Amino acid sequence: MSKKIRLGVLISGRGSNLQSVIEASKNGIIDADIAIVISDKKDAYGLVRAKENDIPTLFLSPKDYKNREDFDKKVVEELNNYKVDLVLLAGFMRIVTSALIEPFRNRIMNIHPALLPSFPGLDAQKQALEYGVKFSGCTVHFVEEGMDEGPIIIQAVVPVMDNDTVDSLSERILKYEHKIYPIAVQLFAEGRLKVEERRVKVLGKAAHHLGEKVLINPYLNRR
Ligand code: GRF
Repeated sequence: MSKKIRLGVLISGRGSNLQSVIEASKNGIIDADIAIVISDKKDAYGLVRAKENDIPTLFLSPKDYKNREDFDKKVVEELNNYKVDLVLLAGFMRIVTSALIEPFRNRIMNIHPALLPSFPGLDAQKQALEYGVKFSGCTVHFVEEGMDEGPIIIQAVVPVMDNDTVDSLSERILKYEHKIYPIAVQLFAEGRLKVEERRVKVLGKAAHHLGEKVLINPYLNRR
């Protein structure tokens, strides 16, 4: 088994992705421990989840900093205090600046509820429904400057149904968010993610299991 890496998780709210990483860590699915959970919202439910699992937490109020860079510098200081190897943005509702990205280049991931580069930004599921795509999904990517920008590590695809609402589509996507974030973390922990410009290659065997399978939605059923 590889040595355990230390995670810093940044949240603003519910923290269901945080919970999936907590579970994966507890169950030994990932060789990683959460060293610190940082929130920019005092009442983020994710802080409760962390405390319930004896994980150190920190609330940093953006109001105490004169600009985004200063806030991010404080985040970096704390991540370093806790000797964090990999940073996870998990429903962290702030634009992050180079002050945070630069020191953690290719060591900071984000999860987004759409198949990037489609539908970046807020309300991705609503954007997908309104656009009328037949598939959506979720993406974990390394974070670069720019909204939901950076090399893509892993994606999961879900179908969009005619009767979907924002809630039903969000729920279908969320289930797979909870699967792919731990996978991305474990691939990182195993040192298997190699960034080559925009592409993230996965080293080692059995990285891909789909072969040349394709998905078609809707389907014509004539029999
Ligand atoms: C998720 O849909 C994530 O993809 C997006 O924000 C949401 C956070 O949910 N970035 P949670 O706080 O992890 O439950």
